Amino acid sequence: MKILITGAAGFIGFYVSKKLIEQGNKVIGLDNINDYYDVNLKFDRLKELGVAKEDAELYNKKAKSSTSSFEFIRLNLEDRDNVPLFFKKEKFDIVCNLAAQAGVRYSLENPEAYIDSNVTGFLNILEGCRNNDVKHLLYASSSSVYGLNSKIPFSTSDNVDTPASLYAATKKSNELMAHTYSHLYKFPTTGLRFFTVYGPWGRPDMAMFLFTDAMLNNKPIKVFNEGNMERDFTYIDDITEGIVRIINKNLEERKDLYRVYNIGNNNSVKLLDFIKSIEENLNITAKKTLMPMQAGDVEKTWANVDSLIKDYNYSPNTPINEGVKNFITWYKKYYNK
Ligand SMILES: NC(=O)c1ccc[n+]([C@@H]2O[C@H](COP(=O)([O-])OP(=O)(O)OC[C@H]3O[C@@H](n4cnc5c(N)ncnc54)[C@H](O)[C@@H]3O)[C@@H](O)[C@H]2O)c1
Repeated sequence: MKILITGAAGFIGFYVSKKLIEQGNKVIGLDNINDYYDVNLKFDRLKELGVAKEDAELYNKKAKSSTSSFEFIRLNLEDRDNVPLFFKKEKFDIVCNLAAQAGVRYSLENPEAYIDSNVTGFLNILEGCRNNDVKHLLYASSSSVYGLNSKIPFSTSDNVDTPASLYAATKKSNELMAHTYSHLYKFPTTGLRFFTVYGPWGRPDMAMFLFTDAMLNNKPIKVFNEGNMERDFTYIDDITEGIVRIINKNLEERKDLYRVYNIGNNNSVKLLDFIKSIEENLNITAKKTLMPMQAGDVEKTWANVDSLIKDYNYSPNTPINEGVKNFITWYKKYYNK
């Protein structure tokens, strides 16, 4: 299959590209390599996929990889001229949209970036799929769509009408837009609500990375809501496995065009237990600065993954201690600590 992975220089897109290449698909990666976090990490992920930095740097020019089954293009999703041309030229079988402006807290500072990438950018993806007979569109949604919901665990049958941040509102918008396009133009779309993804090559703006970095540099860590938070942490390999299973399953068995799944560990971990696991793995006691709840954040997430189990016989299950250990091993090696 010829598959477009947007956000291929990002955390999840990198892993999904790698796995699909290993399975013998032709993968085209797209990313604008923005500087929301350290671009070196993004270029290094691309290097792992066989693309040299000097080739990846050029805009709107396809960079070859040392792996013949991967190519990369640096493009902005919101580019209304070049995204349609790119889709027309490439004729993808499957599109997996993982590019987005991520992060809850940054959406209070720079709301425009979320509308550009996540709403205008996503519209370009939908139009590209509609006009070029793409057989299946998968796209990243987020556990943040559950917003202020208090019923746990979160189920895809729950109403999600109370987003707590603009980030969450753009992800919910993606689901609504996908529904419209599935309904009007009769192509299958699958939204994936990811729950706090972590692991090697992870994002520097997320807790796992921030805590490890601070602890190794003898700095205090910020513990929001005085530690009264819980997250359904999901290990990157489990997320990748879930996405790839959905990509590979025969669509002929599927009658309904519009679907949304939770992909989480079905297990909520207390923030203080998560910190304890990092402390044990680093053999360092964290200096904790207790902070109030951050605007836009929610106290607890927990995924009900029954429909993923029913339809794909799959449920993420990597224990937190194992995932934390793998992250720390990678972090120390990558940063020479
Ligand atoms: N990591 C998580 O815990 C998590 C949780 C829920 C949802 N998600 C969603 O999963 C997807 C992947 O997340 P990630 O953790 O890999 O994030 P990431 O930031 O590492 O990857 C996203 C990539 O998209 C690229 N990008 C952003 N805007 C773009 C644009 N306008 N045009 C082209 N490229 C653009 C960025 O350069 C980045 O490399 C995102 O949609 C995110 O919102 C992630």
